[in-house]
Amino acid sequence: MPLLEIRDLTYTYPTGIPALRGVSFAIDAGDAVGLLGPNGAGKSTLILHLNGILPSEGRVRVHGEPITKANLVQVRRSVGLVFQNPDDQLFMPTVFDDVAFGPLNLGLGETEVRERVARALEAVGMAGLEDRPPYHLSTGQKKRVALATVLVLDAEILVLDEPTSGLDPRGRREFMNLLKELPCAKLVATHDLALAAELCTRVVILDEGMVVAQGPAEEILCDTALLEAHGLSGR
Ligand SMILES: Nc1ncnc2c1ncn2[C@@H]1O[C@H](COP(=O)(O)OP(=O)(O)OP(=O)(O)O)[C@@H](O)[C@H]1O
Ligand SMILES: [Mg+2]
Repeated sequence: MPLLEIRDLTYTYPTGIPALRGVSFAIDAGDAVGLLGPNGAGKSTLILHLNGILPSEGRVRVHGEPITKANLVQVRRSVGLVFQNPDDQLFMPTVFDDVAFGPLNLGLGETEVRERVARALEAVGMAGLEDRPPYHLSTGQKKRVALATVLVLDAEILVLDEPTSGLDPRGRREFMNLLKELPCAKLVATHDLALAAELCTRVVILDEGMVVAQGPAEEILCDTALLEAHGLSGR
């Protein structure tokens, strides 16, 4: 049974914009899947369905179970989601509070929470900034803290929406190294083809709310005609 399964997922925003039209694919333990597609393809919309932020009416399953009100807390523990915009993730008065929020909500003890927060901030290169207000950080620093708020929970699947946009080259490299070391499954929405080539075993291409191609990363990323047809080549 796949860790995460998306089956014929369709979604139209209340404004009438059809964002997803019958998306299907699955993620197994150990997978690192790149989700590619041009602006407006539906990547972020898809991601918001994976831990119940947008309703999936049973078309998204985690460990074979549809997402329901009753298992939402468990689902959010399994599927760690990092938003495209870090301002959507950070809302507490300090960096420490933001990273500690999830583990405290799970009812973990203070010592364990402190240890986890320290480890997560160290991993993203933000140790020492615990007392800073997140809204005073640079965009790249916010992205790092947003990642820490999810790393701290040891999710089974990490879902990242444009994780490297706004990071400086060293931050991007450190982030990729960090991601490579993490044993969890990953789904990464990105326009960074080099990142997808280095990190991903599989690639799914989304365009106009539909999966237009999926397969091994080395195959898909070498198909220049396919990439050009879906706005993924700058040539
Ligand atoms: N909150 C919203 N309300 C209405 N329409 C929306 C909303 N968010 C996104 N859309 C529309 O849904 C479609 C998919 O958008 P989405 O943000 O999922 O694309 P994306 O692939 O993540 O793009 P990008 O690469 O720019 O991040 C687009 O047509 C977009 O305009
Ligand atoms: Mg997006």
